[in-house]
Amino acid sequence: MVSVPLSAQKMLATMSNHPHITAIETGFRMIYTAGHNAQKKHADIAVEFKGDIDLVTNIDIETEKFLIHEILQVFPDHSIISEECADIESNSPYCWIIDPIDGTTNFAHHLPIWAISIAFYKNQQPIAGWVYAPELNQLFFGLSSYGSWLNFSPIHVSPIEDLSAALLATGFPYDIRDTPYTNLDLYEYFSKRSQAVRRFGSASLDICFVSCGMVQGYWEQMLQLWDFAAARIILEEAGGKITDMYNAPLPFCPSSVVCSNPILHSTIVREIHISGAVLRNHL
Ligand code: IPD
Ligand code: CA
Ligand code: CA
Repeated sequence: MVSVPLSAQKMLATMSNHPHITAIETGFRMIYTAGHNAQKKHADIAVEFKGDIDLVTNIDIETEKFLIHEILQVFPDHSIISEECADIESNSPYCWIIDPIDGTTNFAHHLPIWAISIAFYKNQQPIAGWVYAPELNQLFFGLSSYGSWLNFSPIHVSPIEDLSAALLATGFPYDIRDTPYTNLDLYEYFSKRSQAVRRFGSASLDICFVSCGMVQGYWEQMLQLWDFAAARIILEEAGGKITDMYNAPLPFCPSSVVCSNPILHSTIVREIHISGAVLRNHL
């Protein structure tokens, strides 16, 4: 195991009475180790195709197996939902949700924008979320009712409320070659109305970039639970608003996602619906 940095240990000391302190410590310990291992093995990457453009690498699988093993060592009765392996279901109210590499296409091309995403939920509500981008040296952490941090400094969403001054991010679905819901219409629409629109290629980092105010808003039409489960609590604890694109609370299943500060969030949701874009219905 990679040792947790001193700054993390100091922050953890302030949470020592938290009812889920063991889960919080486990999350930090395993995400650092998983990030370190993924970087170390990056040179020996082997890529396979899940679809025409949907990749998976040996490191996605190894990272996921490592995280599942670590969780079950400490919490043998918890449920686990993860991208590459079958879900582990139990009667426990606690569930971990894992995206072992979010931004696999970037990872496969050695573009450093990728992250490991781990969320800890109780009764389908988020308690804690970690998004770690080792190549960027950025660890985002959010804890319900406590706040959000980037590398152990508190973070907040941007105060920019004017769409034309906002830097936005989005993403496109893996079935873009076949689906009518390409998101390209909204990409064009917002490109003409915002300061600019970026496509970073990692949904969890997109939401974290909004959480710390580097980006002012993000939307995507079709995400899996593991893409947003961790970043969602980071965004909310940073003072942001995150819903589906119909302004409904995020479900515990695949969904569209819109996030920003509360004012700009309303504008983005409204603009999506007046744009005339081809939208997915509720997922
Ligand atoms: C993908 C990335 C991408 C988003 C896709 C996701 P993956 O996750 O987050 O930015 O646009 O919708 O599926 O496949 O790299 O884990
Ligand atoms: Ca993902
Ligand atoms: Ca993934």
